Amino acid sequence: MKKTIRVLMLGDLVGSTGRAMLQKHLARIKQEYKIDAAIVNGENTNANGRGITARIAKSLKHNGIDVVTTGNHIWDQRDIYEYLKNNQDVIRPANFSSDCPGIGYTTFNCQGIEVAVVNMQGQVFMREHVDCPFKTMDSILTYLKHKTNVILVDFHAETTAEKLAFGYYLDGKVSCVVGTHTHVPTADERVLPKGTAYVTDLGMGGSLHSLIGFKKDAIIEKFKNQMPTRFMVETEPPVVMTGIWVEIDTQTGKALQIQRLKVIDEDLCLDGDS
Ligand SMILES: [Fe+2]
Ligand SMILES: [Fe+2]
Repeated sequence: MKKTIRVLMLGDLVGSTGRAMLQKHLARIKQEYKIDAAIVNGENTNANGRGITARIAKSLKHNGIDVVTTGNHIWDQRDIYEYLKNNQDVIRPANFSSDCPGIGYTTFNCQGIEVAVVNMQGQVFMREHVDCPFKTMDSILTYLKHKTNVILVDFHAETTAEKLAFGYYLDGKVSCVVGTHTHVPTADERVLPKGTAYVTDLGMGGSLHSLIGFKKDAIIEKFKNQMPTRFMVETEPPVVMTGIWVEIDTQTGKALQIQRLKVIDEDLCLDGDS
């Protein structure tokens, strides 16, 4: 059994821009950094940047992703509902109603090591009324701790304070806590005192000169005049993809190191779709 594993975690991929970036660069990144498993947030992977479909989920897996986490946009494409019921490689926040399709945590085998991934959503400045992420996490851990010490958490939340609080709450209980949802990467990656790797936000995969992956002019107008506007995915290069990789002791589940990752592609070509 491997003594350590390296897991890559990437921020929200936006539309075909983000997906093309993953398709072009993931294999090289995995090889270069000796990555054993890869996780991405896919809540914005649909062509319009809203939700994810079964076809996209399968293509992310095909491109080398082990588990797809999501967030508040998970219900935007009805097509995914059935997939969530029948598959465990795309998860939705665990603190949504238990009546919702899908599951909030999953495990997969990484070279003989059981790896758990948990998806949770924050409560502050988020539209959805979700159960307390802290208490939900407590009950999930009582179950998961019987299965494995290697536990990765995607906390899909808006505010830095809630994310930091969640990170410190879970210090020593899980291997890694990463934030998603803002699409803006933070530079505060660290291993917390009791051995949990942490970063407030992974950032995104999408057009660099955009507003969170979307064409910026319409959004600037919305800020100016408060009129409704249509968010359109930006496809122009350069395209950026950000996240972290974490090295974990497979016996103890503790993180040994966390490194930030940023790839910029100056001339990414989209295949025209979808
Ligand atoms: Fe997002
Ligand atoms: Fe989100």
